[in-house]
Amino acid sequence: MQNSYKRVDAHLSSLGYCTRSEAKKFLKIQSVCVDGERVFDVTKKAYHSQITVDGQELDAERLVIIMNKPCGVVCSHSDSGVLIYSLLPLRFQRRNPKISTIGRLDMDTTGAILLSDDGALNHKLTSPKSEVIKIYEVTLAQPLRGDEAEIFASGELLLNGEKKPLLPAKMEIITPTFVRVEICEGKYHQVKRMFGSVGNRVIALHRVSFGDFSVEGLKPSEFREVSL
Ligand code: URA
Repeated sequence: MQNSYKRVDAHLSSLGYCTRSEAKKFLKIQSVCVDGERVFDVTKKAYHSQITVDGQELDAERLVIIMNKPCGVVCSHSDSGVLIYSLLPLRFQRRNPKISTIGRLDMDTTGAILLSDDGALNHKLTSPKSEVIKIYEVTLAQPLRGDEAEIFASGELLLNGEKKPLLPAKMEIITPTFVRVEICEGKYHQVKRMFGSVGNRVIALHRVSFGDFSVEGLKPSEFREVSL
């Protein structure tokens, strides 16, 4: 757990409570305490763990959350449309460093997406070497033809435009048009392209889990903090 030592205004602004220039006014309006004693001097230095705002501990310095992404929102800071970050509390939206999604889901894909302000963690979990297991529920336009599980498991499926075949993926059949797929890479539109390569089309895609983290118990747009 991080516990940095710096000025109170630096803590508050990096965690999105207020901007650095608003900090003086913030300390007048909100009860900001260091070791239980109210402070009015924005330059006072303290450890993160010593500070409270209106009796509450500060938000974590390093934040990792899992969200059940709803359909129709975009995993980007700059694209047009409804951005996933707009679903977070304003304070989280104002954090610096910024919170970003760990990898991306398509606009019409729902389910498990991690978000964090920890750039190194993001890099680690999205690197091709990380091989984090992702489980998807896939609704198909056409009934399965029968050889899909074998093709996906072969480690020989080469998608259009790729130089290397996909790593083996598992497929569990629930009904002829509804399957669960487990993959350990994150190529662009991977699941949709996998089914495209066997003559089918994905009509709904939901990621149940990312690594050890599942969206069980989370309604669309809901999120919870995780430790990682
Ligand atoms: N595969 C896809 O095709 N889309 C996603 O959003 C995730 C995996």
